[in-house]
Amino acid sequence: MNKPLRLWNDYDRPHADLREAIERMERAGELLRIRGADWKLEMGTLAEIVYRQDHPPAILFEDIPGYPGCRAASGLTNSARRMAITLGFPVPSHPLDVVRAYRDRMKVHKPIPPRVVNDGPVLENVLKGSDVNVLKFPAPLLHEHDGGRYIGTDDLVIMRDPEENWVNCGTYRAMVHGPDKVGLWMSPGKHGRQIREKYFKQGKPCPVLISCGHDPLLFLAGGNEIRFGLSEYDYAAGHRGAPYEVVESELHGLPMPAHAEIVLEGALHPGDTLPEGPFGEFTGYYAGGRSEQPVVRVERIYHRNDPILGLACPMVPPSDFSYSKSVMKAGMIWDEVERAGLSGVRGVWVHEPGCARMFNVISIKQAYAGHAKQAALLAASCQSGSYLGRFVVVVDDDVDPANLNEVLWAMCTRCDPAEDIDILRRTWSGPLDPRLPEGVTWNSRAVIDACRPFEMLKDFPPVVKASDELRDKVRQKFEDQLKKR
Ligand SMILES: Cc1cc2nc3c(=O)[nH]c(=O)nc-3n(C[C@H](O)[C@H](O)[C@H](O)COP(=O)(O)O)c2cc1C
Repeated sequence: MNKPLRLWNDYDRPHADLREAIERMERAGELLRIRGADWKLEMGTLAEIVYRQDHPPAILFEDIPGYPGCRAASGLTNSARRMAITLGFPVPSHPLDVVRAYRDRMKVHKPIPPRVVNDGPVLENVLKGSDVNVLKFPAPLLHEHDGGRYIGTDDLVIMRDPEENWVNCGTYRAMVHGPDKVGLWMSPGKHGRQIREKYFKQGKPCPVLISCGHDPLLFLAGGNEIRFGLSEYDYAAGHRGAPYEVVESELHGLPMPAHAEIVLEGALHPGDTLPEGPFGEFTGYYAGGRSEQPVVRVERIYHRNDPILGLACPMVPPSDFSYSKSVMKAGMIWDEVERAGLSGVRGVWVHEPGCARMFNVISIKQAYAGHAKQAALLAASCQSGSYLGRFVVVVDDDVDPANLNEVLWAMCTRCDPAEDIDILRRTWSGPLDPRLPEGVTWNSRAVIDACRPFEMLKDFPPVVKASDELRDKVRQKFEDQLKKR
């Protein structure tokens, strides 16, 4: 652990694919290899054990019984150092450094469309007809009460909008129903679901690719709410400063990452559903239960030799992806509220115990009456902060939004519940929200102003805290004695 971290500049270029990213992470001491774990509950339980430790590494599962040559990888983006490797950010010393790096990157970020190529490692094996079998890969049964094995957890579901012709890549869970049948669960409002409905309304099948192992940067793009109409390929390439190479799929001409590990190709058909779930989800519950969901009829499988299946294992947070969601979401909210015109933002943090969605904090330097409420409403409603939100807290700039102690102290001392908490109703949620009755996909949101009231700023009681100057002086004087502890 904590070997020197080399970033893109040290290598002259971003990693080309998942394999190179894994090599770089291992060199930085960020990878644990585990041999002999079974797909049936062992990989999921090991992820839970590892992610209950401090500073957990990424895991590469090798020698998976019954799957010679196949490997599976979990948690590749889930530390500040692994995010720095994935996104090419400077080495962080505080969680907000990565968030700030994201927000600074977005000021110069330009989407870069993919480059179509005729060949790539993903075409090393092309399976058709009776050779199509998604259970050729170690799709895990992650939790004891899951309704089946999931080939897609850290996946990219690639679809083309039939009206506007852009390509969406979203991370949606994919359950194995049989060798050539995979169920897709897409929550109401998700771009993939909106696209699927456009095909179905026209009475047409919806072509789909499911990539199940790829550059971790594509996972960060696929699993976070990028604006409608912007392809995650272009967005992720804008971060790496170079286009992704894509190969057009045989049946539907959809673009697949040329360096992907495993890609399934098929289509969803109107009215063709099977019972899907339950699945242990990121909120820490088997919410949503079992329901009829559309099925991808898989007709082609493309895969590299000795492929690596990407894994994301949801659980009571922290999980193997919750830290990366916290960072991405915080950076995206910061970027979006500033684009909406808000000034004075000093930091944003999305807390992991809030399942990296439900307890989001924004800190501002108040400049006018109403500033704090404006910040809260924007943070609660922007694209990346909206889905399945619960609490948004605004704090003054002397409070570190990533420090739960400081946030709770501000809530308890600067917020009068009757005056400073507003409730937004009928906001975007979904069946995974454990608190919602069946069939309801909207919830409410508490917007908590934990800033000193603007009109009391001058007279608010001073904070009891030694000045930096005094603390440094006293620390120096007693340095030897303090070190003994
Ligand atoms: C590991 C992981 C698994 C996810 N699984 C699902 C899922 O099964 N269904 C879903 O609707 N959203 C899921 N999400 C959330 C979506 O990926 C996320 O909202 C993303 O923005 C969806 O893409 P879209 O914005 O293009 O719709 C998951 C996210 C992550 C990180």
